[in-house]
Amino acid sequence: MKVFEIAPVKYIDNKMLVLDQTRLPGEEIYEEMHTKEDVWEAIYKLKVRGAPAIGVAAAYGLYLSVRDFQGTDIDDFALQLKTAKDYLVTARPTAVNLAWALSRMWDKFVSEIHGAGAASDKTAATGFDVKTAKEVLFAEAEQIRKEDEAACFAMGEYGLSLLQPGMGILTHCNAGTIATAKYGTCLAPIYLGQERGYDFKVFADETRPLLQGARLTSWELCKSGIDVTLICDNMASIVMKNGWIDAVVVGCDRMAANGDGANKIGTSGVAILAKEYGIPFYMYVPTSTIDLNTPTGEDIHIELRDGEEIYKMWYEKPMAPEGVKTYNPSFDVTPANNITAVITEKGICRPPYEKSLAALFK
Ligand code: MRU
Repeated sequence: MKVFEIAPVKYIDNKMLVLDQTRLPGEEIYEEMHTKEDVWEAIYKLKVRGAPAIGVAAAYGLYLSVRDFQGTDIDDFALQLKTAKDYLVTARPTAVNLAWALSRMWDKFVSEIHGAGAASDKTAATGFDVKTAKEVLFAEAEQIRKEDEAACFAMGEYGLSLLQPGMGILTHCNAGTIATAKYGTCLAPIYLGQERGYDFKVFADETRPLLQGARLTSWELCKSGIDVTLICDNMASIVMKNGWIDAVVVGCDRMAANGDGANKIGTSGVAILAKEYGIPFYMYVPTSTIDLNTPTGEDIHIELRDGEEIYKMWYEKPMAPEGVKTYNPSFDVTPANNITAVITEKGICRPPYEKSLAALFK
């Protein structure tokens, strides 16, 4: 699949590098992560963002937290790892990929190292030494990254089967290559379609307040030579009314067991509009983003962010009076009944989602 070669998180030459997405589209700068605090801050400040990319960053970040561990006691190592896991998970609450990736790393450590004998027999002779533990954790982080890349590619194929050449497609926020290991979730079929001559016309909502649509989606699509038109969020209705939109594609940060999906603030409004205009609304959700332990959207923790992001962050001068009251939820929940289909790497789920999502994990 043709997609420009830029990864949000890289681990090369023993360095963890994060593309600072807050500087896009102006500057493409990778920042080296040295400590778990660096990784926490990169996630919190959205230098790395998008649910799957957050998961990948967290996995490498957890490895980083023990990479320079000097001792030989595996229990001390386990304690340092657990402390870092419990810390990193607090960076952002809504995207389940963060907790998912950290738990997966921890479980791997427990099953292959700690629970497998190292806790009771700490000698290097058992093979359960600190060096092996580090290797196992690094390999798992690499595996999480590679699996996400493969999942995105598969979602591209499934997603493309729902689209026709020449379609107008609206997207909200950024669920593209820089929000994942590669290809993106809902932008993957756009890239695949480009390769196969589908000639899509993409409309990107700017996505206030942090402008992921303007700064990131329009940037990555322009860079890939895809026809993209940037609109303000409040223009979604008119482009639908004009007949320019044949499908809406969006990503997801956490999908509950009943199919309610939390995604970037404003997504639920786009879904309501799509329903009104009879336009299919497709949510792209890798299985790493499905949380069967969360029964419904009501149970999803919605991140509230600093109100200054609304009126100060991107402006030279404040765009509202100092001290104005603000409300800045970062996500909203699109109810399952407004989602036409859920595209995963294992196939396309249709309502009733309680059944079709659960079937993915059997
Ligand atoms: O606050 P962000 O930029 O991390 O929000 C990102 C989104 O809402 C994406 O749509 C979602 O994480 C899916 S990314 C494939």
